[in-house]
Amino acid sequence: MWKIPLFDLNYDAREQEAVSEVLKSKWLSAGEKTAAFEKEFGKYLGIGIHCCAVSNGTAALHLALLSQGIGLGDEVIISGLTFVADLNVVMLTGARPVTADIKSFDDWNVDPRDIEKKITKKTKAVIVVHYAGWPCDMDEIREVCKKNRLILIEDAAHSPGAEYKHQKCGTLGDCGCFSFFSNKNLSTGEGGMITSGNPDLIRKIKLMRSHGMTSMTIDRHQGRSISYDIVVPGLNYRIDEIKSALGLVQLKKLNSANTRRRQLIRIYIEHLKGINAITIPWKTFPGDRITSGHIFPILLDAGVDRLGLIQALKSKGIQTSIHYPAMNEFEYYRKILNQPLATADQVSKRMVTLPLYPDLAPEQIETICNEIKFFLTQN
Ligand SMILES: Cc1ncc(COP(=O)(O)O)c(C=O)c1O
Repeated sequence: MWKIPLFDLNYDAREQEAVSEVLKSKWLSAGEKTAAFEKEFGKYLGIGIHCCAVSNGTAALHLALLSQGIGLGDEVIISGLTFVADLNVVMLTGARPVTADIKSFDDWNVDPRDIEKKITKKTKAVIVVHYAGWPCDMDEIREVCKKNRLILIEDAAHSPGAEYKHQKCGTLGDCGCFSFFSNKNLSTGEGGMITSGNPDLIRKIKLMRSHGMTSMTIDRHQGRSISYDIVVPGLNYRIDEIKSALGLVQLKKLNSANTRRRQLIRIYIEHLKGINAITIPWKTFPGDRITSGHIFPILLDAGVDRLGLIQALKSKGIQTSIHYPAMNEFEYYRKILNQPLATADQVSKRMVTLPLYPDLAPEQIETICNEIKFFLTQN
């Protein structure tokens, strides 16, 4: 339907082969492919990183909080500009979510100074999201968390392969949570991963991902175990073998796909940089961090008709999106959140995400940018 969609899978025969291999093996639920995916993902992130694959990124975040005992009476600070999963998981643990503002119109990551301002006696954890794939100010954030004894969780859904001072995102806090949803840099349809340098935490999370059971179905199938015990209350947040097999193939493609994404972002910036009505965040790639190039968002000036632009692009077959609507305006959260944020709320109202995926052609970027320029001169 779209001439230029917002995102597109970079799948080929390798993913097809991986799936048929699993089908031929006749074992579908978490097993050897899942164990291999966890191992390879950990190796990719760095030495001493342990991983637990789960059913999706939201499950990863939920388990990250539950496994650290966060619940009723606690507060968790999240970014004011993130996907609602960060907010929902905090709510569902019984803790109170508190939003911190982002840094500026040029850097949409959470402001470490605002995190510090929002800390109370009840604060137990901070969830930071490396928005669009750009790593947050992790030195400052880690310092604030260390000083106040807070658990630091990275929502790394946007940032597989992104680096902060030569260290991969997802290894910079107490644990990292990845999503492998279709539109992500590493796509398995649904899927997620929790990562940590703490093997005991990952051991506990692995139990909690599967009802708290001491053995998995595969262990019983392969005769390693006859029954099981329950050592902690858990859920069913398991991934399956098809998704893990897809993840293994996608992981091999991740670095080259991210490099391509960064090249395409540079092309976008070249085409858009002279336009006064647009601000491009992270326009000058900061030297100490490498983006995964997950999405390409732009900020429109206050007077620009955003809906008009989105419709104009749609009429030309170009799909756009909004990352993200203001969380304190969602019907459910309007009253209970009620935490206005000077910068994040403005970005939510004025931002547009443009198409970005490894197979996007430079000529398509030129077309998108020309349509934007045409709209802005006419309106
Ligand atoms: C920033 C962020 N956090 C969390 C999630 C949740 O991941 P999932 O959709 O895999 O549950 C997403 C995915 O959409 C996301 O973009």
